[in-house]
Amino acid sequence: MKNILVTGGAGFIGSAFVRHMVKKYPHYNIIVLDKLTYAGNLDNLLPVDDEPNYKFERGDIADRVSVQRVFEHQQIDTIVNFAAESHVDRSILDPDAFVHTDFVGIYILLDMARQLGINRLHHVSTDEVYGSIPEGFFKEGDPLEPNSPYSASKAGGELMVRAYHVTYGMHTTVTRGSNTYGPYQYPEKVAPFFITEAIDDKPLPVYGDGMQVRDWLYVEDHVTAIDLVLHEGKAGEVYNVGGENERHNIDVTKLMLKLLGKPESLIKFVKDRPGHDRRYALDCQKLKQMGWQQSGSFEELMAKTIDWYKGNEWWWRKIKTGEYLDFYKRQYADRLAEAK
Ligand code: NAD
Ligand code: TYD
Repeated sequence: MKNILVTGGAGFIGSAFVRHMVKKYPHYNIIVLDKLTYAGNLDNLLPVDDEPNYKFERGDIADRVSVQRVFEHQQIDTIVNFAAESHVDRSILDPDAFVHTDFVGIYILLDMARQLGINRLHHVSTDEVYGSIPEGFFKEGDPLEPNSPYSASKAGGELMVRAYHVTYGMHTTVTRGSNTYGPYQYPEKVAPFFITEAIDDKPLPVYGDGMQVRDWLYVEDHVTAIDLVLHEGKAGEVYNVGGENERHNIDVTKLMLKLLGKPESLIKFVKDRPGHDRRYALDCQKLKQMGWQQSGSFEELMAKTIDWYKGNEWWWRKIKTGEYLDFYKRQYADRLAEAK
């Protein structure tokens, strides 16, 4: 590996990966290709802006011309794909962009890589491709039963990665990460959304009964898992990356309020998300056997995350304007008006 293309590197997890790789591997060139959608943000990459082994290019992974240009100009030998539309609620309102990026986009990346002889690709996927599990834990060989336009597009993308390994012998790997939280997360996902709303004493809209279960993973732990699989993963293999930290949504909400010193009266139970997966849970033995470990407890890492949002209002206040407010209105205005 020498010239690594990180697609979607201006987003939440992608930028954490770039900040990690640029510092840890000064002998690698890290090149970001990002479309800069509403979720892409160059502020996330400011900490590496002056580093000589980092470069940014704007472009769409589903556009063959942009992809070919960056592959050739930067002499790319390795691809790590984070680029995606990533928010389930937006996929329910408008699925188009999800099919474009999460399915067609990864296909174009794979196909241009095949044509230009780039053999190494890591694809960042999600535990949501498995669907919901009432008890027990998903293993890597379990069937994919995605339930939202987001997870269905991600599952389709992953299957294309598999096909390029089996058919063309490409050295691909896939990680399926669980719900990730930490600094620089666009404040539509529940953790940064509730933290920043609570700072402003605004209502927190909990969907349904709040008893859905997610497995929470700190962003830097997600990144070290991807680094490990990129270097040591076996061709054609899939690796679960879970926080081994299952929580009910209502308990996560109450913990955040407690850490912020805000009252539980901010919680409002609102109309549920259609097709809402009840529980995600992953078996992470395969990754742990490779030596992966997490960096702390959920309580510590959530407290650290909250401190970051408290200390970096410059980062999120300018996001919570314009398009963000249009989405907020579409998603929450009626729900909050009818809330209990
Ligand atoms: P994000 O929405 O914060 O960032 C996505 C990035 O991709 C943005 O910078 C955006 O501009 C870019 N992008 C979107 N469409 C593009 C296109 N067509 N071409 C080039 N760039 C494009 O997402 P995230 O939360 O950082 O997620 C990153 C990856 O991790 C995604 O593939 C997602 O499915 C996966 N994942 C996320 C989570 C989570 O909890 N956030 C959990 C597991 C897996
Ligand atoms: P989210 O951050 O959107 O991640 P995902 O849907 O990919 O798991 O949501 C996490 C959980 O929080 C999920 O069960 C939905 C719930 N949720 C709410 O209850 N209210 C909200 O406003 C949001 C955004 C999510």
